[in-house]
Amino acid sequence: MNNTTGAGAAPCYILAVETSCDDTSAAVIQDGRTILSNVVSSQIETHQQFGGVVPEVASRKHVESVTLMMEEAVRRSGLELGELSAIAVTQGPGLVGSLLVGLVAGKALAYTLERPLIAVHHIAGHIYANALVHELEYPAMALVVSGGHTELVLVEAPGRFRIIGRTRDDAVGEAYDKVARALGMPYPGGPHVDRMAHEAEAALPLPRAWLEPDSYDFSFSGLKSAVMAALNQAKMKGQTLDPAQVARGFQESVSEVLTEKALRAVRAYGAKQLLLAGGVAANRGLRESLAPRCEAEGIPLLAPPIALCTDNAAMIGAAAYLKWQRGEYAPLALKAEPLLSLESWSV
Ligand code: KG4
Ligand code: ZN
Repeated sequence: MNNTTGAGAAPCYILAVETSCDDTSAAVIQDGRTILSNVVSSQIETHQQFGGVVPEVASRKHVESVTLMMEEAVRRSGLELGELSAIAVTQGPGLVGSLLVGLVAGKALAYTLERPLIAVHHIAGHIYANALVHELEYPAMALVVSGGHTELVLVEAPGRFRIIGRTRDDAVGEAYDKVARALGMPYPGGPHVDRMAHEAEAALPLPRAWLEPDSYDFSFSGLKSAVMAALNQAKMKGQTLDPAQVARGFQESVSEVLTEKALRAVRAYGAKQLLLAGGVAANRGLRESLAPRCEAEGIPLLAPPIALCTDNAAMIGAAAYLKWQRGEYAPLALKAEPLLSLESWSV
């Protein structure tokens, strides 16, 4: 079997598969950091008509495209199937039916090729998307902001995670999608709210949820309710609020709280870098709020390019390499875990 320890070791080629939500993706990653291929089949158009992801429909769409994506990823990598070192799959968290499709496809190929199977935590993937473009230094603090998660994660050492703060209600991406819907924008609404916020000349004043002074936790449901209340009150008075001003008010509230808490966490834990991770890491407002603050405080701010912020298999291949280096492989009896814990997945 290939091994990467020691000088002159053979390269490690991991074929990774990601199907935890509504994107079917496959990628081939060399040594945890070089992307040889990364293909994504998005189901957005299918789910748009329902205003959100319909789990049963997502599973069926994954079934239709997963093997095509895997074949395409291998073809674009320029490798032969036999050259692959391992197969990585997202084990969780996510929609169980969606996870199962990638898991079964990955297992089948691992079994056929007689290669190890590596189980990956989806959020570890989002965090390690940064390793595809930057050199990571430890301890690092990761601000994970996606459709399902909002967490501050201390990355103590490669692949060792400690969650120091999390949302007590909605994930930030979820709040973005709900506000976008109320403003008449299609799913997924985050990018639309981001764009509209930049078109506004003023911001609707909205509250900030700081919680207890020493807490690294977040809460977004009160802010979301405040947006809904403002829209309803205006409607009852026969007025209309400028949607761009609502978007900007919402985005400023979210960005300010995320920025302050992330910077306090970096200082408190002596983190050498702040890593942005997850779909909402693509948000321009958040990047614009964090960048000058990090610069002023001398904190390196790392973020993946936009295409690696949202769900993709390249990030799964990057995180899988942590397990590959330790020979931590998964059995073929591996089960999908919709609520898989990040800390327990740590290497
Ligand atoms: O990480 P991701 O692709 O999927 C999950 O694991 O959840 O994140 C998807 C989320 C959606 O809620 C989407 O609206 C949000 O990321 N998103 C954004 C932006 N781009 C994607 N939210 C705010 N601003 C953006 N530019
Ligand atoms: Zn994700």
